[in-house]
Amino acid sequence: MNTLLRIDSSVRTQNSFSRALGDYFIQQWKEKNPEGVIIERDLTLKPVPHINEQTVNAFFSEIPDVESTCLSDELINEIYQANEILITSPMYNFGIPSSLKAYFDLVVRTKKTFSENITRKGLLENKKAYVISSMGGILQEKRNPLEIHITQLLNHMGVTDISYFPLDGTVIETRIAELVNFQQAEIVKQFNE
Ligand SMILES: Cc1cc2nc3c(=O)[nH]c(=O)nc-3n(C[C@H](O)[C@H](O)[C@H](O)COP(=O)(O)O)c2cc1C
Repeated sequence: MNTLLRIDSSVRTQNSFSRALGDYFIQQWKEKNPEGVIIERDLTLKPVPHINEQTVNAFFSEIPDVESTCLSDELINEIYQANEILITSPMYNFGIPSSLKAYFDLVVRTKKTFSENITRKGLLENKKAYVISSMGGILQEKRNPLEIHITQLLNHMGVTDISYFPLDGTVIETRIAELVNFQQAEIVKQFNE
């Protein structure tokens, strides 16, 4: 049985392009996985705090400090439970939302999701990730900066099998409907490969 962890980060709970494409993805995923389990982590409805000194000290301490690491432990357990991960992320000021960065700061953790024995190694094995991104402007660079950043974070934890469904130019009404249709077709293709 497949378990999918869905992580949303748009502050818009209504009329969000990334969330809407995420919903479409889930609809398709459910058709393929009627018995599958979906874990939802909504970083807008339930934001996680930024890391602080106490938390980081606990991450690197040999003495367990459950009080300081309990949220990180919970989020990491959630990732381990899932064999598929869907991340929906808008672009805010040229990067991922601070809520999503705060989330990654809690889950990218030494000895838990990566190890540093001689060489660095991601500890999350056999997981497949999907990244849905949205940005108001038209992509100017060769590669989407949201995808670059999220890929680095996932790779660092050992997740290397990643599919991307980007939406750029969301503020251009004449363009976006066609792009949404295109990415919906890409999602259908993904499930019929
Ligand atoms: C605070 C904020 C910052 C933004 N910064 C950028 C930006 O740097 N580049 C860009 O292309 N669009 C930017 N946008 C536009 C969003 O990326 C765009 O509206 C996108 O569709 C948001 O995703 P959503 O539709 O899932 O909410 C910004 C929007 C907000 C609210």
